[in-house]
Amino acid sequence: MMNFSMSNTIIYLNGFMASGKSTIGPILANTLGWEFYDLDRVIEEEMGKKIVDIFHDEGEKFFREKETETLRRLSRMHDVVISLGGGTSVHNNNLEILKKTGKIVYLKASPEALYKRLRFKRDRPMFNAEQEQDNKERFKAKISHLLDQRSPFYEKADLVINTDDYPLGLTVDKIAKILLKKINEKI
Ligand code: S3P
Repeated sequence: MMNFSMSNTIIYLNGFMASGKSTIGPILANTLGWEFYDLDRVIEEEMGKKIVDIFHDEGEKFFREKETETLRRLSRMHDVVISLGGGTSVHNNNLEILKKTGKIVYLKASPEALYKRLRFKRDRPMFNAEQEQDNKERFKAKISHLLDQRSPFYEKADLVINTDDYPLGLTVDKIAKILLKKINEKI
């Protein structure tokens, strides 16, 4: 295992939907020898249903309350990597919890890259209508608009990694290693 100067904390992976949080999270945690939690997966396990169904059945307000309550509980742990949902840091003063209890890494991606990764996905309740209509321009505009609204929150991170900078063939394993090196240097 690598020599890691930081301990007794949490690394929060933040960023827009499909920015790579859930993919990079377990690899980073494994490299650190830390536990990994995915906030959305914890909520799904506790509720016994998928996020898209929670949005559909209970509504977004309910989901956001459940998200904050789950985050509060997870934020009491140490030496864990937690992948957040794309909307976590922008709701209910959750950013304050994140800042107080850990280090935030923002996996930044351009609207164009996000569009390419999101266009075939059908599990993001924030976008279902646009995808169903297969309206490319409308879908792209919604991504850009939401990203503009959320960027001020995302940019409050301790470390920003521009994932567009890495060539497409680069594996997530390599990205996790680059991330680890940067964390060691900067945080
Ligand atoms: C959301 C992002 C999703 C999930 C929910 C809401 C958002 O997580 O929490 O669908 O508001 O951006 P991912 O970022 O993992 O897709």
